[in-house]
Amino acid sequence: MTILGIETSCDETSAAVLRDGTLLSNIVSSQMVHQKYGGVVPELASRAHQLLIVPVVTEALQVAGVSKGDPDAVAVTYGPGLMGALLVGLNFAKALAYGLNIPLIGVNHMQAHIYSNFIDDPRPQYPFLCLIVSGGHTQLVLVRELLQHKLLGETLDDAAGEAYDKVAKMLGLGFPGGPIIDKLAREGNPEYIRFPRSLLGNENFDFSFSGIKTSVLYWLRDNGFRSNDSTQRLPDQQLKDICASFQAAVVDVLVEKTFDAAARFGIKEIAVAGGVSANSELRYRMRQRTDEGRYHVYFPKLEYCTDNAAMIALVGWMKLRTGFVSDLALTPVANLSL
Ligand code: KG4
Ligand code: ZN
Repeated sequence: MTILGIETSCDETSAAVLRDGTLLSNIVSSQMVHQKYGGVVPELASRAHQLLIVPVVTEALQVAGVSKGDPDAVAVTYGPGLMGALLVGLNFAKALAYGLNIPLIGVNHMQAHIYSNFIDDPRPQYPFLCLIVSGGHTQLVLVRELLQHKLLGETLDDAAGEAYDKVAKMLGLGFPGGPIIDKLAREGNPEYIRFPRSLLGNENFDFSFSGIKTSVLYWLRDNGFRSNDSTQRLPDQQLKDICASFQAAVVDVLVEKTFDAAARFGIKEIAVAGGVSANSELRYRMRQRTDEGRYHVYFPKLEYCTDNAAMIALVGWMKLRTGFVSDLALTPVANLSL
């Protein structure tokens, strides 16, 4: 069974080929057009997907050594994401399914992030908790069994990755800000400033990151720096200290809330997914907690943390094996929930 996966929900155009659960190719083209704006511009994302979708799918098929007519099914993200961006991938997938007379399988992008932990071994055992931390979402999910999810909590305002991107922009750094802050923070003092750990110690598992972001903004203002101004950079060491302090606050909240939930629900297996799961401090701190041997923590390989079609193809295959097939009238759902 050969599945072609397609992902165009945000600013990555991606296609992957999976055969009987084994990944044969995963091509990801990250759109550079957004860099100068410090964030994804939806209209530009749709246009870039239009340009990239055919070459990216063609390359995925070539690398996998399969021809255009070979796929037995096509799996595609139909939400959540940017409407115009989703439309490009979904319409392409529909046309392919219609033309080849093969099943179309609509995939929830957040569900796919969870199963990015199943592309390689070792894989989490059921039941497990999944912390999904991306540019658009921060969610804590209980996965009781295959494709059975219960949302325990989510962000009430900014997503963790969004906070990274916005703080990077304030500090005059590039986009996406997560990897840049991650790198600078390695040489900074995480105790330089104590930014707020919002909603930590609450009874529920919701998150809030806008307070941390605003605290960085106020700190810049109170110390005579204009935000969003790359010509007026902080002195090098101070910049690294701010990055480390900001990251410490975000990671503290993510780690503590996740392990609180694990204790509350008696879960020993913990997976992390989404773009921010590439963060070196988050990986280090989560793994440190397992030293007592009570918990097992899983992260996807770095290339499967950010958006990719390998995870879409994998969930497509999982759904197809349960007998699931989408109607060709499937439409994108920008705010699709888990
Ligand atoms: O999952 P993803 O590729 O796209 C969404 O579905 O949103 O996540 C992108 C987000 C961006 O906000 C980016 O800044 C963040 O992931 N990110 C990181 C790191 N690498 C990517 N955040 C922190 N540390 C990183 N190393
Ligand atoms: Zn994503």
